[in-house]
Amino acid sequence: MPIRVGVIGAGIMGADHIRNHATTIGGAEVTYVADIDAGRAVAAAPPAARITTDPSELINSSEVDAVVVASHDSTHAGLVLECFEAMTPVLCEKPMAPTLLETLEVVAADANIVAATGASLLSLGFMRRFDPGYVALRQSVQDRIQGEPLMVHCTSRNAVAGPGTTSESAITNSAIHELDIIPWLLDSPITEVSWQAGRSSRHADGGLQDPGRRRYLRTGARALPTHTACSCRPGYQPWPRENSRPWPARRTASMPRSWPRP
Ligand SMILES: NC(=O)c1ccc[n+]([C@@H]2O[C@H](COP(=O)([O-])OP(=O)(O)OC[C@H]3O[C@@H](n4cnc5c(N)ncnc54)[C@H](O)[C@@H]3O)[C@@H](O)[C@H]2O)c1
Repeated sequence: MPIRVGVIGAGIMGADHIRNHATTIGGAEVTYVADIDAGRAVAAAPPAARITTDPSELINSSEVDAVVVASHDSTHAGLVLECFEAMTPVLCEKPMAPTLLETLEVVAADANIVAATGASLLSLGFMRRFDPGYVALRQSVQDRIQGEPLMVHCTSRNAVAGPGTTSESAITNSAIHELDIIPWLLDSPITEVSWQAGRSSRHADGGLQDPGRRRYLRTGARALPTHTACSCRPGYQPWPRENSRPWPARRTASMPRSWPRP
């Protein structure tokens, strides 16, 4: 029997997760979709899936084996903790939470579960770790193909800032990928972050300080300048909701045998 997946949040990413399950992921199917906007849930859900506007109903349903959280950043920590309560595995989109306090709460709850069961229930949507280009780059860093890395320069480009983007969320939502990927790439933690912003782009709305430049310090005092622009027009552009991705309709291998079935 396939793993029954419930998806919370049926916006751009939620719809992508649903489409991925339908076209490329073997051994799992989306059976439940929750969104506070019922119309979005209906539009994105597979025909036979249950629909709800209440994410708790989905999390606590006996018809859901695993959950994907793809709702707004501010909802992540609370929904993940609810999944932990239900002992249901959860893939949460990044960020785990937009605040340190919420993040620490989730980390502590996850540590308790690991201590009790030997396994975490949480995966995070930091997908760059699975991107073949990033994986090859990390391998070449580890193998010191170019020698000892002295500096990392990351550049992020979004064509248009999403509605409600603030200077803070440019970090917690967008630059969060770098906060994840730099320690992973260099195998050492970031120890200090500073932020600089010059004049904002005329495309940046509502006081958004964009573009911004950050400098991360890691153990060993290596300077890591990075640069993020959320509204620079040419740049990474999420695929429009109404278009389906031009992926071949093929399914991957099944879920690993080790996947904990209830
Ligand atoms: N991994 C990545 O690279 C990547 C890329 C883009 C977005 N994201 C993350 O994915 C998440 C969703 O982003 P998006 O671009 O799809 O946003 P979106 O605004 O298109 O969709 C969010 C959806 O969540 C729904 N929602 C909000 N609060 C809810 C709640 N309490 N319960 C149920 N549904 C709720 C909204 O109605 C909306 O349909 C965000 O956390 C974002 O940071 C990750």
